[in-house]
Amino acid sequence: MSRLKVLSVVGARPQFIKAFPVSDALRRDHDEVLVHTGQHYDESMSGVFFDELAIPEPDYNLGVGSGGHAAQTAEMMTRLDAVVADEEPDVVLVYGDTNSTLAAALVAAKRDPALAHAEAGLRSHNWAMPEEVNRVLTDHCSDLLFAPSESAAETLASEGIRDGVSVTGDVQYDAVLRVREAARERSSILDGLDLRDGEYVLATVHRAANTDNRDRLEGIVEGLVSSELPVVFPVHPRTEGALEASGLWSRLADAENVVLVEPVGYLDFVRLLDGAERVATDSGGVQKEAFYLDTRCLTLRDETEWTETVDAGWNALVGADAAAIRAALADDDPLPEKPSLYGDGSAAERIVAALSEYEYA
Ligand code: UD1
Ligand code: UDP
Repeated sequence: MSRLKVLSVVGARPQFIKAFPVSDALRRDHDEVLVHTGQHYDESMSGVFFDELAIPEPDYNLGVGSGGHAAQTAEMMTRLDAVVADEEPDVVLVYGDTNSTLAAALVAAKRDPALAHAEAGLRSHNWAMPEEVNRVLTDHCSDLLFAPSESAAETLASEGIRDGVSVTGDVQYDAVLRVREAARERSSILDGLDLRDGEYVLATVHRAANTDNRDRLEGIVEGLVSSELPVVFPVHPRTEGALEASGLWSRLADAENVVLVEPVGYLDFVRLLDGAERVATDSGGVQKEAFYLDTRCLTLRDETEWTETVDAGWNALVGADAAAIRAALADDDPLPEKPSLYGDGSAAERIVAALSEYEYA
């Protein structure tokens, strides 16, 4: 097996988490060039993950920052294209479904390196979601596709993509397994917030469909305020802006049962999720992590890509209606036995094995 030059592209919070087990495995036998697009840049959305997870300093930070979809994606492509031209990697590795993912996929597809996509084959079937556009286009440009489940591989096959597909399991399962114990031992967030295991609800919200629609945002706010248990809510910067602009921030800040905090680091987040009585979220990653950590999940969306967690009875799709959220927060039907859905925690090793075995042009 020859040594590969892999150019990995990350840019948004979930990608730092997904990349950390893979980078670790990759660097044992191959050379990695790590590129941060700069899509997320606040210390609490980016720097904290590099420090805590000992992710190597990126070789390049493209410093693109925030912007509209077209401007942000175009700027990433322009800056990344120059890096790919200089570095001449064998393969460009991308994660998930953000604008950073799509920008890198388009650059790689139009240059020489192969393109590899971790978290391939996920679909919400909601074309209004920017992430759906990003993930479908990325899959259709990719040479190597790492599916977290058999059903994701079947989805790819149904779209005519069969070559280069491997079912690896979910890299976020690897990530959770690596930090769960450390989070229990080292995180002091529960004490800091005066919370006890099993006696609070965790909430996260950031999807455009929720933040950019006042009715939906208000439905979520009213649903959370109605919780019997205290609600701890690490607020994504996009959501903070939307809550302030829509006049809903004070409704949460003034509610006795709601604790608003800045976004937290991964160890603290895993500790919060592990200890929560349940979680209410519109995040993709948090739905899966809740499942891995045995925490009941309410998903504040009308559809999900992680349908197996819903089919298994561990995740309820409740949308953004206050009454539905209130009812779901009170539901205490016992949870069914948990199936194994997204691999065995060795997705990173499988991804590296597939990258190593691929025949590059
Ligand atoms: C992006 C991804 C989404 C992913 C999420 C993870 C796209 C289209 N969306 O959404 O799929 O689930 O990241 O969190 O790629 N902001 C800051 N500081 C930061 C980052 C963002 O203040 O460090 C604010 C800015 O006002 C920015 C807004 O948040 O305009 C949205 O950021 P952006 O990266 O465009 O999208 P996200 O909503 O974070
Ligand atoms: N996360 C975190 N701190 C927070 C909120 C989330 O570390 O305050 C982690 C969480 O554990 C998960 C990832 O960020 O691994 C999810 O990112 P996000 O919800 O922003 O994006 P999505 O998964 O929806 O794309």
